[in-house]
Amino acid sequence: MVNYKITSAKMGERPEFKIPNKGFLEALKPEGFMELIHNFYEELLESEIAYFFPTEDDELALIKKRNGAYFMMICGGDDRYISKHNGDFDQVKTHKPFSIPDKARTEWLGCWKIVLQQIEDKVPHEDIQSYWNWLEVFSKHIVNYENDRDTIEDKAKVN
Ligand code: HEM
Repeated sequence: MVNYKITSAKMGERPEFKIPNKGFLEALKPEGFMELIHNFYEELLESEIAYFFPTEDDELALIKKRNGAYFMMICGGDDRYISKHNGDFDQVKTHKPFSIPDKARTEWLGCWKIVLQQIEDKVPHEDIQSYWNWLEVFSKHIVNYENDRDTIEDKAKVN
C-alpha cells in the first residue's frame, strides 16, 4: 500500500529530502516515465491550477520534455538536464515567476496521486512510495506565496 500523505508547507522552509529509489525509473523505463508525465499534465490541465500552465500544444510538449528529463534525472536517469544548464540549475529560482501557495502545491500533488495510483499494478509500491515522499517534501521548497493572499494568477483568472 502506498501512503499518499500530504503535510502542509511553511513558506520559506527547505526541509531535507531523500532522492527516490532507482527502482522507480527501472520499473517504468523512460517510455513509461514519459507516459506518466503526459498523464500528469492531462490531470493538471483539468485541475484548479490549470491556469498556471500553457495550453498551446507545442509549448506544452516542451515543458513535458523538460519536466520528464528533470524528474528522470532525479530518479537516477541520465544527467543531461542539469549539464544542459551548466550544472547550475535551481528549482526554486525556476518557479519564482509563479506565485505558488501551499494550496497550489496540494492541488499539484493531487494530480500526481491520481497518475501514480494508475501504475500501482506495475511498479513496486516501495518505489512509488519513495517517489511520492520526494515529491511531497521537495515541493515544499517551491512554495513561495502565503495561502491566503490573492496571487497575480488568481486575479488574472477573475478578469
Ligand atoms: C517536486 C517539486 C517540483 C519540481 C521538481 C518541479 C520541476 C519543474 C521543472 C523541471 C520545470 C521545467 C523547467 C524548465 O523550463 O526547464 C517546471 C516548470 C513549472 N512548474 Fe514545477 N516543479 C515542482 C513543483 C511545482 C509546483 C508545486 C507547482 C505549482 C503550481 C509547479 C509549477 C510549475 C510551473 C507553472 C512551471 C512552468 C511552466 C511554464 O514554463 O509555463 N511546479 N517545474
